[in-house]
Amino acid sequence: MLKVFTEKEQTIAVVSSYKSKGLSVGFVPTMGALHHGHLALVEKALDNNDKVVVSIFVNPTQFDNSEDLKKYPRTLGNDVKLLETLSKEKIIVYAPTVDDIYEGYAVSQSFDFDGLEFEMEGRFRQGHFDGVGTIVKRFLEIVKPHNAYFGEKDFQQLQIIKKLVEKYNMPLNIIGCKIYRETSGLAMSSRNTRLKPEYKNEAPFIYETLKAAKKRFDTNSANKVTKWVEKQFSNDNILELEYFIIADTDTLKTVKKRSNKKTYRAFIAVYADDVRLIDNIALN
Ligand code: PAJ
Repeated sequence: MLKVFTEKEQTIAVVSSYKSKGLSVGFVPTMGALHHGHLALVEKALDNNDKVVVSIFVNPTQFDNSEDLKKYPRTLGNDVKLLETLSKEKIIVYAPTVDDIYEGYAVSQSFDFDGLEFEMEGRFRQGHFDGVGTIVKRFLEIVKPHNAYFGEKDFQQLQIIKKLVEKYNMPLNIIGCKIYRETSGLAMSSRNTRLKPEYKNEAPFIYETLKAAKKRFDTNSANKVTKWVEKQFSNDNILELEYFIIADTDTLKTVKKRSNKKTYRAFIAVYADDVRLIDNIALN
């Protein structure tokens, strides 16, 4: 049986026993409702570490929308079964209660991520990255892993976590992992299970449009590509575009003047009914 802890003291004790034996520890933070994108992170962590801690916690402070928080899928029993298919001995799960991890005080600390927090998701989801920063910092202080794994699916989050670790001089490596997709191209997400059939059928249009935008970016300006994407979505009666932005990979600022020395990425957020989906693609 894979061990599941709900208290930080248990987690701290087990991890320190690993470390005293000289074992390396990887960490994969999640909000559960695990899918193959999450499992790929855990597999990578298993490849590179002796032990892997997976946290499963739907973090209330990073939700700007109380309905989204309420409807977020919670499937701990099934999540544990999925993890057991990877390893029963090398993985432990830390699935705290709100009181355990927040010690009865579930509010966000406020962070300065050098402006990364004001772009895209930070602009459209008030307080989101303060919530993410607060919980990830808390988890890293408890687990103290050698390596922690984050998906490029949430590319802005990955950059912000790298900044967090740098600013607080935390002694670990942050490792980014590529985006896992359904065969339809739709980026895997715990929220996909909430898509009604009509929206699920249309959702692959998001990645199709990203790929087409990447092609267009070879010969067109960022502004032209952005206008083109906006038009594709205004012609679509099912999906509603929240934003499409072409940004500098490092600063995440929307590109104004293109430079050959920089790399760019396209970022998108779309509503499929009340389900909010995000995706992104490297452009050059
Ligand atoms: P969650 O959405 O559960 O995602 C957990 C990790 O899995 C994140 O690093 C995310 O980028 C990665 N991930 C999700 N879908 C993926 C996909 N299709 N391909 C590759 N990686 C994918 O992100 C969070 O939880 C939370 O914000 C968290 C960091 C746990 C803090 O609460």
